Amino acid sequence: MLYPSLILALLATIAVLLVVLLRQVRADGRSAARLAERAEARMAAERHRLFGQVAAWLSLRDRLGLRQGLPYSHNWSAAPDFLEQIVDHVLAARPATIVECSSGLTTLMLARCCEMNGKGRVWSLENGPEFAARTRAEIARYGLADRAEVIDAPLVPYTLAGLDYQWYSLAGLPDRSIDMLVIDGPPGFIQRHSRHPALPLLGDRLADGCTVFLDDAARPDEREIVAWWCAALPGLQARFVDNERGCAILRLDRPPT
Ligand SMILES: C[S@@+](CC[C@H](N)C(=O)[O-])C[C@H]1O[C@@H](n2cnc3c(N)ncnc32)[C@H](O)[C@@H]1O
Repeated sequence: MLYPSLILALLATIAVLLVVLLRQVRADGRSAARLAERAEARMAAERHRLFGQVAAWLSLRDRLGLRQGLPYSHNWSAAPDFLEQIVDHVLAARPATIVECSSGLTTLMLARCCEMNGKGRVWSLENGPEFAARTRAEIARYGLADRAEVIDAPLVPYTLAGLDYQWYSLAGLPDRSIDMLVIDGPPGFIQRHSRHPALPLLGDRLADGCTVFLDDAARPDEREIVAWWCAALPGLQARFVDNERGCAILRLDRPPT
């Protein structure tokens, strides 16, 4: 008599376990479907982003006639949507003196725009001798040596408002009024607020109406830097372009003295 009730209890337990297992399998299936949906949405956004950058890249290459290959590095070169911003500005505003912090693809495109304008020259501060040599070679290869000069500018210590920074030596930069400043270095890993010294150190040289482009402006450090610059330099106004890495565009309209 004991056996039938034991068997019944066992069967009931197995039935309960089966129900629990079935529910778990259904729940896992639903969350796997949700995960797959999210992964698909992320992939679609990534495809969209990549297509936008490739389209910008091809358009820049064709507009600037740079068809002998371009020195692009995914991790280190400015992204095509930042390059578009600076190229559009040079072709429209025709600045005479362009200074940039960090050389590379930016230097080549800025120099080519100056050549197309028949006006303007780029001075590029570069701390890495090997990168300076590489940029000079690209500039020479495209016959743009009259339009751009890469300045060997090792990072040297500065103290600004009691804080220490490593930033470009300005010993090789001619003392000219700057119409456009492009800031894409030094790299962020060197120190916190790595690009902050640019305006404290070059602010006095900016021409009235100068436009400053800061790459990677979506990063918290760069957001803070832009706020500090605007607070310190009367007449400086910033706007942000929400592109892949963020771009801050600042214009200086010096107030009458
Ligand atoms: C963000 S990169 C920008 C270079 C330039 N504006 C461009 O768009 O090509 C800033 C600096 O990183 C350094 N750099 C460039 N390529 C590098 C590499 N492959 N490894 C380490 N540092 C690099 C160079 O000193 C360069 O000035």
